[in-house]
Amino acid sequence: MGICIGLVGLGSFGSAFAPLFKAHPLVDRIALCDREPERMRRFATDPYFRDKFRSEDAYASLEEICDADLDALVIMTQPWLHAPQCIQAMKAGKHVYSAVPVISLPDGNEILDWCDRLVDTCKRTGMTYMLGETPCFRPQAMFCRRKAAEGAFGDFVYAEGEYCHDVDHTCNLREVSQRRRSSASGEEWRERERHYRERGAQDGPMHYPTHSTSGPVWVMRTHAEKVTAYGFGNKTGDPFFAGDAFSNEVALFRMNNGATVRIAELRETPGRLGDESETFRILGTSGAFSENRWFEVRRPAPEDIDPARLPRPEVRELAAEEMFDRLPGPVEEAFKRAMNREADEGELREKDFTPRGHGGSHPYLVHEFVDAVASDRQPGIHVWEAVRFMAMGVAAHQSALKDGETLAVPDWGDAP
Ligand SMILES: NC(=O)c1ccc[n+]([C@@H]2O[C@H](COP(=O)([O-])OP(=O)(O)OC[C@H]3O[C@@H](n4cnc5c(N)ncnc54)[C@H](O)[C@@H]3O)[C@@H](O)[C@H]2O)c1
Repeated sequence: MGICIGLVGLGSFGSAFAPLFKAHPLVDRIALCDREPERMRRFATDPYFRDKFRSEDAYASLEEICDADLDALVIMTQPWLHAPQCIQAMKAGKHVYSAVPVISLPDGNEILDWCDRLVDTCKRTGMTYMLGETPCFRPQAMFCRRKAAEGAFGDFVYAEGEYCHDVDHTCNLREVSQRRRSSASGEEWRERERHYRERGAQDGPMHYPTHSTSGPVWVMRTHAEKVTAYGFGNKTGDPFFAGDAFSNEVALFRMNNGATVRIAELRETPGRLGDESETFRILGTSGAFSENRWFEVRRPAPEDIDPARLPRPEVRELAAEEMFDRLPGPVEEAFKRAMNREADEGELREKDFTPRGHGGSHPYLVHEFVDAVASDRQPGIHVWEAVRFMAMGVAAHQSALKDGETLAVPDWGDAP
């Protein structure tokens, strides 16, 4: 049976997702919401949405859309708003999808408090929550999840996750920050941010940690127990980093499965550590994944070890196409049409479905949430998983503020 869904936040990111949510075969009706009337108008008048969007389904506030008869809301608002808005939606009887991260605020204790409230709201309302974490639906993560399920990594030993996004890189963070503030909710944030600064809250890139922490945690299906972290503070007086203790932070975690994980959140350095700016590497005792290569060794049992015939690791170069999972045929077809809106029927027949958006993750994220709501199951990145990604960043930042003191990482347990 199909579902009715609402999308809140038609800014830069929400605009990219609206056509995909509308296109999904299990979505019967889509409602749209933004506080900015001209952003709302752009979608309300777009003929592409006409088959599933009614003019009375254009909403100007979260309060109004929470009162509508919808099954689920997709929250794509600014990062400091996510958790309270998701809680409001779940209390109104809606399943929720949240853009990353769980929430980003200058005060880490406040972030942890919101994690607590989110988990509690899911338990009390029975609504599902999914975090739209892009690394978890990149082809590399899909491949590694399959290998982990087969046990091909052996025991997990070490992993790295990183998000290297220099402030002046292609997707310029100064412009992003300016755009997110140039709206009614952006104006309100300026005032709140001033209060955080007045009471001495010190922000840092680990308060937006999800692109780095999620990959290793998602693949290894574990959580962090302890952390030691250090930070590098901007030395030039760059106004972008005003109020931030650090512009770059690096952390080392002890995980519950015995592995060690290094996480880097870097905003003031050009270049990157690997092939991608948002990536991970995972090493186990018998399998390892790094930069689209899979390494595997088939070890003999200890009593069969023969120094004359030692096993050699095999190395396989992987193309994205072989790492991706397949989506159901009708879903692929619908997304292909949504992603090639200008193409006619003949051109569409010639085209293959090529997943796009943050490594191809966007269509998979949309399908995961819609399918989970429609089939009444927990989505992949449910709340218990999402708060693990977030808590790692908060604890790392707190450790860095204490010059590397080893701290415990809070955990809310596994999904019941
Ligand atoms: N790789 C990724 O996963 C990735 C990449 C980019 C952005 N994001 C996330 O996407 C989110 C949105 O980013 P963006 O760049 O599109 O921001 P944006 O400022 O362009 O858009 C946010 C929109 O939400 C609207 N809004 C806020 N509160 C509202 C309310 N109460 N009711 C109705 N509308 C409301 C605003 O008016 C605005 O149009 C951010 O939280 C960001 O972290 C994730």
